[in-house]
Amino acid sequence: MKRSECRVPQEEIELQRDFIRKVKEINHGVLKKYSVQTFGCQMNENDSERLAGMLYEMGYTEAKDIKESDVIIFNTCCVRENAEVKVYGHLGALKKLKSENPNMVIAVCGCMMQQSQIVEHIKSKYRHVDLIFGTHNLYKFPEMLHDALNSRETIIDVWESEGSIAENMPIERKDGIKAWVTIMYGCNNFCSYCIVPYVRGRERSRHPDDIINEVSMLGRNNYKEITLLGQNVNSYGKDLENGLSFAGLLKELDKIDGIERIRFMTSHPKDLSDELLEAMKDCKKVCEHLHLPIQSGSTGILKEMNRKYTKEHYLELADKVKKTIPDIALTTDIIVGFPGETEEDFDETIDVIEKARFDMAYTFLYSKRTGTPAAKSEQQVSEETKKLRFEKLLEVQNRISKEINDEYLGKTVEVLVEGYSKNSPNKLTGRTRTNKVVNFKGEIKLVGKLVNVEINKVQTWSLEGEVTAVYS
Ligand code: 5AD
Ligand code: SF4
Repeated sequence: MKRSECRVPQEEIELQRDFIRKVKEINHGVLKKYSVQTFGCQMNENDSERLAGMLYEMGYTEAKDIKESDVIIFNTCCVRENAEVKVYGHLGALKKLKSENPNMVIAVCGCMMQQSQIVEHIKSKYRHVDLIFGTHNLYKFPEMLHDALNSRETIIDVWESEGSIAENMPIERKDGIKAWVTIMYGCNNFCSYCIVPYVRGRERSRHPDDIINEVSMLGRNNYKEITLLGQNVNSYGKDLENGLSFAGLLKELDKIDGIERIRFMTSHPKDLSDELLEAMKDCKKVCEHLHLPIQSGSTGILKEMNRKYTKEHYLELADKVKKTIPDIALTTDIIVGFPGETEEDFDETIDVIEKARFDMAYTFLYSKRTGTPAAKSEQQVSEETKKLRFEKLLEVQNRISKEINDEYLGKTVEVLVEGYSKNSPNKLTGRTRTNKVVNFKGEIKLVGKLVNVEINKVQTWSLEGEVTAVYS
């Protein structure tokens, strides 16, 4: 069924604004400090920026050191087990802080909290947690914080199913040049290894007007690059009555002044349309980069994963992408050690890597997620085999990444300057339209500008060069 109204009603947003004022009153105008720690994907980063925005309006500023925080939030991820282990480790370490400062509010939210067994575990083993909420009611954070400040009990508010989308809530972005813009929430695909559809709910697209308004505002505020986020952006708009398609949305966003670059992720191969490839080619601001997770190169494993494409179909698609958009960078996600994966299946994955020649592959060891179909399989692959396959895959991919980067030597590329490089602090850093990191010497005044850089050194993960021209 298509939705004609997708927004949380304005009265509900006003109610949260009232709670923002109330929390400010409780704090008597005294500036308080917050710390939001994000685990997981860019979507979580974007949610954390919303939490920070609400906290800022409630009179909190970001703590330089977590120890001095009055409110600490852990925005969690559960896509793989190691993300959860990390959260538990950090949460345990907060116990001492809380005993030193009993007025501190410790909140845990995000994907992990959508699983009842995890909430129970936290309730019984981490009693210093004051507030637990999930992914669907983030916009009610002011009300929940207000309640937590007024109660000695742990406040728990996790919604089982998704609600509408809250627009016009505050946001405090981490960066002043590049912005995340979530365009849809949830996923309908139910890949058999993946927990996301269970914790993020079904696909809901934001109304195009809301996205266009947000991006226009970003353009007016000197943002140069936006990355549109969704678990499967190719199905954007399909749930809306009279909605735009994703390609249609790109065309609208391409017209917005100030914004120089548009990126997006993630695309599902089964939904990648010719219309989208044409839009990528035609829209000047849409960058020449496509992240297209393959997950496995074995058609048998892809079937077990419920991915709905074959190895051959993916390779044809990769070929079409490269022919339609010359010089495009193609990146992917790969899972090694999915239940039942044999050496022959793994060889198929290596074969795809050699044939598709990805610029980069994010490789993951399969992680059993309770509640997903693959977790029930009795053909689990041993950790040792997974690690061996992971190493082999990395070796092949690193060689290809370096070979592709070698082709940049002597070329001049457009770079959006982001700031000083963390790894070589006397150099500036930025990215090409194809999403390659480029480091180069230059003055701070170049930050936020588009420059041309002539590449004179190439590594597996980054390029180096000299500025030859400065734009905008
Ligand atoms: N185990 C390992 N990797 C996973 N991913 C999703 N679920 C799992 C899992 N259970 C990977 C997929 C996805 C990326 C975001 O995380 O490759 O594309
Ligand atoms: Fe998970 Fe598959 Fe949805 Fe991606 S498309 S979020 S891997 S279920």
